[in-house]
Amino acid sequence: MENRKRKTESGNAPTHVAIIMDGNGRWAEDRGLPRLKGHEEGARSVRAILRAAKKADVKYVTLYAFSTENWSRPKAEVDGLMKLLGHFMKRNAKELIEDKVRLRVMGQLERLPKKLQSQLEALMEKSAKDYERTLIIALSYGSRTEIAEAAKAIARKAAAGDLDPETVNEETVAQHLYLPDVPDPELMIRTSGELRLSNFLLWQLSYAELYVTDTYWPDFCEEQFFQALESFGQRGRRYGRI
Ligand code: FPP
Repeated sequence: MENRKRKTESGNAPTHVAIIMDGNGRWAEDRGLPRLKGHEEGARSVRAILRAAKKADVKYVTLYAFSTENWSRPKAEVDGLMKLLGHFMKRNAKELIEDKVRLRVMGQLERLPKKLQSQLEALMEKSAKDYERTLIIALSYGSRTEIAEAAKAIARKAAAGDLDPETVNEETVAQHLYLPDVPDPELMIRTSGELRLSNFLLWQLSYAELYVTDTYWPDFCEEQFFQALESFGQRGRRYGRI
């Protein structure tokens, strides 16, 4: 496929696509390989999808890389995933900056290994200077925690007399989430066929179109991404209206 901006056949691409990258483990198990091999191949899909998102001019991509629940996986898998994320940042920093992609991260970052935290911070800072698109990685992320934290911040302001509780509305809550300036995703893709949200962006996905494919994440590539955009382009979005 030629390297130029590509729109879907049926219309413009969404501004923000969120993805639950599922099925790495099963992909590996089907091949008699260790689960970490599936995550490694999953990292290749991440690169492919970022390039596809560039072609489609999708401004924001949010990837669910590690949930708060994932901390309870075996230590070797957790450590391997943390290492893999560090390698990914190292290997892709140059391309991300050249492509004017800003990196942002959301979740309980203080729980991540210190080395990974500083790698992420350095790349977030470097990539924030001159950018056209944004890659958001949800890491040690849980949506209920995010909403509870927002509620806590609002309650604190109210208790301090800085905010009138009667004025609290949807906008107030949205403004206290991790990345309040990021528009809500219009499309959420989940690979590997599971029909669940798994504590991912529960607030932000309220009006998103959902696209679920049976393909495991390591097999999800540019063509599948464009199929998802195509499906999105064909849907009538009504936001509760008729
Ligand atoms: C879900 O598959 C996937 C994860 C928990 C990790 C996702 C991480 C990557 C793709 C690594 C690279 C990420 C970035 C952002 C560079 P699973 O292990 O739950 O699969 P299963 O349901 O088949 O067991």
